[in-house]
Amino acid sequence: MLATAAFIAFWVIVGLVLFLLALRGGPRGMRATLQSQSRAGNRTALIGFSVFYIAVGVAVPVLLGIGNSDSADAHINGQTVQLTQQEREGRELFGANCANCHTLAAARASGQVGPSLDVLRPPAELTYDAIVRGRQRGGGTMPARLLEGSQAEAVAAFVAATAGR
Ligand code: HEC
Repeated sequence: MLATAAFIAFWVIVGLVLFLLALRGGPRGMRATLQSQSRAGNRTALIGFSVFYIAVGVAVPVLLGIGNSDSADAHINGQTVQLTQQEREGRELFGANCANCHTLAAARASGQVGPSLDVLRPPAELTYDAIVRGRQRGGGTMPARLLEGSQAEAVAAFVAATAGR
């Protein structure tokens, strides 16, 4: 949603700047063109600009947003779990950093090296600790510092919200 808002803002600003440039007679060529046009012509150009910028800057991202809206949820064994922004980021990171070794239905992961997180259902603190410090307690090796800080927190939140569901 933030990206969409930024995109819209960007286009609105681009549209406004072009407008003002055109009206204040920014680049010389533009001034010459505009001055040679009638008032009605100017108004038509103005309306044309507006329609174009609303179409590109607002309609397109809104449509894209609608198309993507279900990626905000996790579909697990027929049920739907709403994910926060942080948990969605965690899902991406899980796919890239954990899925090779762990099973987790919510991430469509079926790795067999480490324990199944759907069975283990680790609380966020345990997952965070495992990611940062690694594990080697006889069940194989999980490397330390696979992720750090907010990324490790995001994965831990995602696992806690979805494991075993
Ligand atoms: C190279 C394979 C590998 C990767 C990649 C990996 N793990 Fe592990 N993980 C393991 C193994 C093996 C264990 C069990 C280690 C042991 O028995 O001491 C484990 C254990 C765990 C545990 C249980 C810790 C405990 O104390 O019971 C959690 C939670 C976990 N991993 C989460 C993750 C997350 C989240 C990621 C991604 C950031 C990840 N793992 C990436 C192999 C991996």
